[in-house]
Amino acid sequence: MSLIEQAGLGALRLIDPERAHRLALAALNAGLGPKGGPVTSARLATQVAGLPLPNPVGIAAGFDKNAEAVGPILAAGPGFLEIGAVTPRPQPGNPRPRLFRLAQDRAAINRFGFNNQGMEAVGRRLAARGPGVVGVNLGANKDTTDKAEDYAAVLAHLYPFADFFTVNVSSPNTERLRDLQGRAALDRLLSRVTGQWADLGRAKPLFLKIAPDLTEAELADIAELAEGHALSGLIATNTTLSREGLRSPRATEAGGLSGAPLKARAQAVTVSLRRLTGGRLPLIGVGGIATAEDAYARIRAGASAVQLYTAMVYAGISLPGRIARGLDALLARDGFGSVAEAVGVDG
Ligand code: FNR
Repeated sequence: MSLIEQAGLGALRLIDPERAHRLALAALNAGLGPKGGPVTSARLATQVAGLPLPNPVGIAAGFDKNAEAVGPILAAGPGFLEIGAVTPRPQPGNPRPRLFRLAQDRAAINRFGFNNQGMEAVGRRLAARGPGVVGVNLGANKDTTDKAEDYAAVLAHLYPFADFFTVNVSSPNTERLRDLQGRAALDRLLSRVTGQWADLGRAKPLFLKIAPDLTEAELADIAELAEGHALSGLIATNTTLSREGLRSPRATEAGGLSGAPLKARAQAVTVSLRRLTGGRLPLIGVGGIATAEDAYARIRAGASAVQLYTAMVYAGISLPGRIARGLDALLARDGFGSVAEAVGVDG
């Protein structure tokens, strides 16, 4: 981390976390971030569901909800960026405060509730973006009854402007959204969304992002449906409703918990999904990744790529690039010629 980044992070930690995040995006847009571009090497270059990535360390959904800083974020080193969640119509989200730092736990709790500028504003921004791998996290408006229609609408509207798409049924902050992970509801939802995807030509990957708070039986249902509907892969996991083992005074806030306390559970979900899908369905691992060792362990458990968010709150925007470099060294140490060779070796 550079001295400027360290000083900036120190200052940002003193103010309200949502304001700090806005300032961080503004600083990136003002040209104050790292500028080397995606970290890459022959060993790090890889593919997920046919999508080429310069390195497998991406930035998770929620960091740049409105695609406001795509170029500067990608310049800081990650292999890819997932923007959103984006809903058809703009919506304000829940009342503030709605983002909390749990510094002692290296964690965060958020209950944003899909605050975003809507697919038209985001589409205009994405249409003007430069190169780099960008995905869209698809969301549904709070007040729509037919959530499937919302996912399909955002998919269709933003399809020309991004490289992959994620059906997000796992945010805990939109009432009843997680119910869409149940077998019958998910089957109906995926029929509708994959129908739209087929109309668009299915050339760009479509993922499903799931919660960490699912039983083995629920994971088995999801894996079967994902394969049955020929999805491109699964992203595991979103934030958790669990509050186990926290020390911070903010631990009782409502919302989704992310960061270090989520790591073991998200790793276990990757292990389960790998076993359930036998490596047929690509996985993207997310939840509590903060070091190259964490990323490497997730890949060895079966993830073809990884994403992170909360660790960047504590270690800065250069973290994904640093993790990618560290991962390159770990792969070399263990004699792997590529990321792909290491995927699932512990399974
Ligand atoms: C998120 N996350 C998230 N996920 C998603 O699918 N759509 C979203 O809009 C958001 N928004 C969001 C906002 C904030 C403030 C946070 C901290 C997280 C979840 C995120 O993408 C990721 O799945 C989890 O945070 C777990 O990864 P980390 O943060 O432990 O690396």
